[in-house]
Amino acid sequence: MTKNNSWDSVAKEYNQLIRDSGDVYHSTYLNPLVLKLLGNVKNRKILDLACGNGYFSKILANDGAIVTAVDYSKEFISIAKENANKKISFFVGSSSNLIFLDDNCFDSIISNVAFHDIKDISKTINECSRLIKPNHKLIFSIPHPAFHLSKRAKENNEYFKKVKNYVSLMTVDHHYFKGVKHYHRPIEYYCKLLFKNQFIISGFYEITTKHIGGKIIKYAKLLRHKQEIPTFLIIEATSVK
Ligand SMILES: C[S@@+](CC[C@H](N)C(=O)[O-])C[C@H]1O[C@@H](n2cnc3c(N)ncnc32)[C@H](O)[C@@H]1O
Repeated sequence: MTKNNSWDSVAKEYNQLIRDSGDVYHSTYLNPLVLKLLGNVKNRKILDLACGNGYFSKILANDGAIVTAVDYSKEFISIAKENANKKISFFVGSSSNLIFLDDNCFDSIISNVAFHDIKDISKTINECSRLIKPNHKLIFSIPHPAFHLSKRAKENNEYFKKVKNYVSLMTVDHHYFKGVKHYHRPIEYYCKLLFKNQFIISGFYEITTKHIGGKIIKYAKLLRHKQEIPTFLIIEATSVK
């Protein structure tokens, strides 16, 4: 898919926030665990799916991985190509149709904070199943579906999340980037697609500030709330095809 899409118009601004190491959420909450789950990447073929500005592809390539990075935004891919390691192959393409990539060709597939931004997640997970080698892993991180869309509320000097809708599929506007959509799905929905596509769930991580020793908390009163209510979910799925 090469036509303009909503991410094209915000790619430059997103890149300013993310730069070379990700924003504070990527660099403190997500990347340490994702890198640990990927293990030694040297000489391993890794797909960075919905790679955005490609900063994570570059981290992997610097660690010796042979990286294929795909995003459906032309703008993101042209930003990602700047100063990129020669070992990274970049493609503009939709995650739901990766026909230009061969079956069983990746040792790992990683997709950071993107599955909730991808409209056709069913075909995307089907493509992941086709592309991953048997007994190898797809790892993806998303904002935790149970809490992502709910507002914070304060009562008796304590913080809560006001969860209104969870089970229904919803298309919602991005809270910050105008024109960009999120696709809310309950966790069960992702699990069913994984099982249908011959993955088992081999790792499941609900990320709170407990994982990062309470870092990045500006207001002490939020500490309990941020330690008890997960911000992100990381799922590791192993192919059993
Ligand atoms: C929140 S950004 C995350 C980017 C990057 N993975 C990161 O961690 O910074 C979501 C990305 O998903 C990409 N995207 C959304 N739908 C897509 C699709 N169908 N195929 C490929 N990329 C898609 C967007 O262009 C955007 O780069």
